[in-house]
Amino acid sequence: MTTDFQRGAQLALKNRPLRRAQPGAQPDYLYPPYGSSVRRAPSQPLVLLPHTLSELSGPVFGHDRVTPGAADLTAQHDGVPLGERIIVSGRVLDEDGRAIPETLIEIWQCNAAGRYAHRMDTHDAPLDPNFSGYGRVLTDKQGRYSFTTIKPGAYPWRNHPNAWRPAHVHLSLFGLAMATRLVTQMYFPGDPLLALDPIYNSTANPRARERLVSAFDLDSTRPEWALGYLFDIVLRGRDATPMEQ
Ligand SMILES: [Fe+2]
Repeated sequence: MTTDFQRGAQLALKNRPLRRAQPGAQPDYLYPPYGSSVRRAPSQPLVLLPHTLSELSGPVFGHDRVTPGAADLTAQHDGVPLGERIIVSGRVLDEDGRAIPETLIEIWQCNAAGRYAHRMDTHDAPLDPNFSGYGRVLTDKQGRYSFTTIKPGAYPWRNHPNAWRPAHVHLSLFGLAMATRLVTQMYFPGDPLLALDPIYNSTANPRARERLVSAFDLDSTRPEWALGYLFDIVLRGRDATPMEQ
């Protein structure tokens, strides 16, 4: 019997070697306006290691790991959550623009008031008993995914005086291998807080960081129901979606 790990290795080995990121296209490890980067940035130059099987393989999650309805964050409780209902969809692609099928995407976010359903969040904003803020979905054969959720609110984060995070959705993916692991944040177009956000601006190349901003999309907007936003995710390569460092 082929294990998930072995299947991942077989898939990943077809794709090597994987390209390194372009300079400025990923967040700087040290970006002083983002306070916690000062504490955790490496103090020594990085040592590049060759990719071996442990980087070129990774977990493969089967459909049994994703429960029906996990992609609809508005339908996980008895009632309907408050806020603006949205549909976030797109494709997951590799560094050459090929679809990555059947890969797990996990998302988490705060509610419409800017509060996470998490014991560490003490922001003075209401919790929503009908919104947990977690979702999972597998991409289809064309690498497509779709979530239904609530547009998250902005929230304060004390990085600097009067600091507010722009509305964002957190995402986590593995793709085919550990070396394509991505943890990132998706933003919304036209948000005035983006220009002030050190996490968003820690990616030096403006074209690269704009890949973190979703696009409003009338085609995926469901009449009388929800606005649609498109967000394609590229794992590695020159068009890679920036990682959250
Ligand atoms: Fe957040």
